Amino acid sequence: MKKLFALTLIAVLLLTIVPMTALAQGPECQDVVTIQKDDWLSKLADKYFGDIFAWPAIMAVHNQAALANPDKFPNKIINADVIEVGWSVCIPTADEADAFMAKWDPSKPEMLYASGASGQLVVGSWWTAGGEADGLAAMFDIYRKMYPGVEIVNATVAGGAGTNFKAVLATRLIGGDPPDTFQLHAGLEVATYSPEQYLQPVDDIYASEGLNDIFPPDLLAMLKYQDHFWGVPANIHRSNVLWYNKSVFDANGLTPPTNYDEFVTVADKLKAAGIQPFVIGTKGGWEAGHVFESVLLAELGPEGYKGLWNGSTSWMDPKVTKALETFKMMMTYANPDHPAMTWDGAGEYLLSGKGGMMIMGDWTDGWFTSKGFTDYGWAPSPGTQGTFIALSDSFALPKDAPDKENAINWLKVVGSKEGQEAFNPKKGSICARTDCDPALFNEYLQSAMVDWSKDNIVPSVTHGAAAVESWANDYKDAITLFVTSGDVAGTQAQLQSACVDAGVCQ
Ligand code: GAL
Repeated sequence: MKKLFALTLIAVLLLTIVPMTALAQGPECQDVVTIQKDDWLSKLADKYFGDIFAWPAIMAVHNQAALANPDKFPNKIINADVIEVGWSVCIPTADEADAFMAKWDPSKPEMLYASGASGQLVVGSWWTAGGEADGLAAMFDIYRKMYPGVEIVNATVAGGAGTNFKAVLATRLIGGDPPDTFQLHAGLEVATYSPEQYLQPVDDIYASEGLNDIFPPDLLAMLKYQDHFWGVPANIHRSNVLWYNKSVFDANGLTPPTNYDEFVTVADKLKAAGIQPFVIGTKGGWEAGHVFESVLLAELGPEGYKGLWNGSTSWMDPKVTKALETFKMMMTYANPDHPAMTWDGAGEYLLSGKGGMMIMGDWTDGWFTSKGFTDYGWAPSPGTQGTFIALSDSFALPKDAPDKENAINWLKVVGSKEGQEAFNPKKGSICARTDCDPALFNEYLQSAMVDWSKDNIVPSVTHGAAAVESWANDYKDAITLFVTSGDVAGTQAQLQSACVDAGVCQ
């Protein structure tokens, strides 16, 4: 009897220990490579599997090995392009690599990472440029300290204003396979994701974290859709900012233009001095629409501009014609390579002193900071003094989020004072909360805080606040096309019909 008991005990122990060791050992490595100079993942994939495109298999299997055996593999691969000399990397067996590649889906970067003891936190956003990426990383650092067992997956899709990200996200939401949380503009953008079907309201988080009392009423109103909150905001951005190179302006005795007549005078002087007067990138298909919302505001004033989005201002108004003419004039001063440039690419003109002015949101301030560039000045875009075109980035909670608890904790960090104070000075935005310490922010951001508290606030269309996504897209497409066509009457008619299609105009 005793013997039987002992045997059973041994068997039970074996059954428990064997899988534990297997787990501890992690996946099988056919080889362990020490990274040499000029090694990169696709080169290793080519060497071992004869296929440069099989690099994700190495990354995924290596990361599982690193989780199971951190002594042997102390370095996780966080970024496929960054593997360092001296790292030990686990090369999967050919069978393992084949099995991984058979299920690999590039829209799901989380497949490349292991899952921590408390699972993953897959965060979807389009923050890849300097400043915005730094701000996000600062919030990740806070989260990681609080929840060390969670593996954070930075699921970005590059492309300013979310042009590429939003399509990937929509597919994932519809497929029932979303990231755990994702970047969502406050305002009507949420409608495009059928929130009642795919998202979970976050009203409970507002209640538990006291957010109803800490965000300003204007912002709370913008965030509420169908009587619920669908995202926790991290910040407030301003769209209508004119950035300029200070030394270039000083050297030419210039001050920032306060209206479009002055814009012409300044631009002519810059041109005569061999400087590209106005810089823009139009590669992403949203940047022209971004600048144009500032021009519309200048020509129509805050009430007129707001009326465009609720049907009380006609798109056929002569002031809209004037705005199109003004924008056409501005583009005659623009860098000819704009179709190949992103917003930050165009910003390089200001950095190098080859360009004079740029109209872009204040993520530019974060980007300048990330570049160590301080020789910049700012002003409200011409003719928009006293009005603040606002937008806000929030994070939302998909109904099918695989790691829901982790996502809820993330939203709490996003809404917290600590999270916002770490994020915003780097991001180039001001806190959505009203209790952040201004001393943590640079001079531009302190000025934005003052303006936000006293200016007339109007919503940005290019960044999700003013109109439903389909209308905002029609608007952006019309203006992007206008950059090449220059057809004022045709574009105005197109803008009018976009408003009709949105059901707001007759
Ligand atoms: C906006 C977003 C900003 C910034 C910008 C450029 O839509 O709200 O946070 O990321 O795009 O990518």
